[in-house]
Amino acid sequence: MWKIGNTVINGKTILAPMAGITTNAYREFMRSFGVALCYTEMISDSGLVFNNEITYTYLPTNEEKRPTSIQLFGGDTNKLLAAIDKIEKHTDNYDFLDLNLGCPVPKVTKNNGGSAWLKYPKELISMVKAVVEKSAKPVTVKIRIGWDERQINFKELLPELEKAGVSLIAVHLRTTTQLYSGKARYDLAENLQDLINIPLVISGDIYTLDDAIKAMNITGAKAVMLARGQLGNPFLATQIERYYETGERLPSPTLDQQLTYMKTLAEMMAKEKGSHHGILTMRGISPHFLKGYPFVKEFRVKLSQMKSLAELDVIIAEIRERALLI
Ligand SMILES: Cc1cc2nc3c(=O)[nH]c(=O)nc-3n(C[C@H](O)[C@H](O)[C@H](O)COP(=O)(O)O)c2cc1C
Repeated sequence: MWKIGNTVINGKTILAPMAGITTNAYREFMRSFGVALCYTEMISDSGLVFNNEITYTYLPTNEEKRPTSIQLFGGDTNKLLAAIDKIEKHTDNYDFLDLNLGCPVPKVTKNNGGSAWLKYPKELISMVKAVVEKSAKPVTVKIRIGWDERQINFKELLPELEKAGVSLIAVHLRTTTQLYSGKARYDLAENLQDLINIPLVISGDIYTLDDAIKAMNITGAKAVMLARGQLGNPFLATQIERYYETGERLPSPTLDQQLTYMKTLAEMMAKEKGSHHGILTMRGISPHFLKGYPFVKEFRVKLSQMKSLAELDVIIAEIRERALLI
């Protein structure tokens, strides 16, 4: 058990913010596997300020379970403050306001948003102070280790961000120019938690229970963020939580369990987005549930073209039959 501000966090796993993936339904799906905190996907300050209807669908509804972080991105302090006003008028059903200081996408960084802030530490710290003052909820941040190999500045930033008043720092151990490739830089992160008194959360390359143990042992972080490693492997959260509760190492799920998880998620997505859009989202996510199986390639094509839940049922039946032949 640990705390962000005054809120108790009951676990070691956090669902990372993932654009296009961590919708309300996805968050509920992952909570059922034990994640202790969920982030929304990154939400545009402009979208909120200009009343973009779709942007508002990214915010938690009254049904949202807690704790939840709303992740906001933007490159201009005044617009971020205006967006916070909009959020606070729209909903109180969240626990933390997170600032995205790590997005590497040019569309975001060219407007000084996401990880572009890391290049301007003075401006970054004044912006964070203003946001902390404005926000009714505790403010957290998610950063990368720096812009590029020559500008790795996260260790200097950590205590500065704490002084600016944030309640938690999540570090994705890659530079911006690394995007999502190359290894997360655990070699630079030994005892990272010792640099700050607020909780540290670590992000990067958590695919197995042992990855999570290693990440927390090296850095001293209070928790790990699950991102690509939980896509198609939601049970990873359960394995990590169980290990830290009891020391037990749960076996990996069977194919049957994986197919059940896939179907459950598809139903939840269809309920949230309507069957058409729900199944379109599942086209990208569902092949991950077959990772490691010899027939993954064969079914990836089918899954990425499916048009309905009924079609998913047919494909699942085919996968079961195919597995019997191995
Ligand atoms: C498809 C995708 C979408 C992402 N969207 C966001 C986002 O909206 N906000 C954010 O802070 N990070 C985002 N990330 C970064 C992840 O939260 C995480 O920090 C990163 O993937 C590193 O962890 P991993 O190596 O375990 O995947 C995204 C990553 C992926 C793969």
